[in-house]
Amino acid sequence: MRNEDRWAVYVDETQREIAARLNLKSGLSILDVGCGTGALLRRLAAVEPTLRLTGLDVSPAVLRIARFETSGPITFLAGDADALPFADGSFERVVCANLFHYVGDPVQALTEMKRVARAGAEVVVADWCDVPDACLVCGKVRSALDEIEIRSYELSGGDRVNWYLGRLVV
Ligand SMILES: C[S@@+](CC[C@H](N)C(=O)[O-])C[C@H]1O[C@@H](n2cnc3c(N)ncnc32)[C@H](O)[C@@H]1O
Repeated sequence: MRNEDRWAVYVDETQREIAARLNLKSGLSILDVGCGTGALLRRLAAVEPTLRLTGLDVSPAVLRIARFETSGPITFLAGDADALPFADGSFERVVCANLFHYVGDPVQALTEMKRVARAGAEVVVADWCDVPDACLVCGKVRSALDEIEIRSYELSGGDRVNWYLGRLVV
């Protein structure tokens, strides 16, 4: 089984759960940090086409795929989560899925997400974690969040994955 097929349920569930927590309204500006190939942003655009959507990822190769797979007006930019190339208060929602294990300093990345979020904006993050209570990466991020929910899903093939979904209001 291909790895992406194995993880398909997890990816679909995390995107669905993030989208459900964004309280989407016409015209909102939303940043996806570590957007990968842009699947979450395309899902949001399908729900509310007036959203102003920006995806940031450190990998130019991944962004090429994101642009190729996207037909609507979503902006994709190369950049580092540790130093987001946006002014303070630029976005009304910031989302981040499955990034924190890849960055050198997850708390710095979360601090940057808060910086670029407008006052009153929501930051919604989700990440996988084998053992949520013992994971240093997750522990650092989770202690900075206002709300946290932990889930567990069965992957195709039988393995389970634990993940958490968190939210904070700036
Ligand atoms: C596991 S993928 C998650 C992609 C997407 N968010 C998702 O949930 O399907 C992690 C993504 O983070 C990106 N990434 C890794 N380090 C990064 C950094 N320092 N700044 C921005 N993006 C980064 C990778 O290029 C990759 O696309």
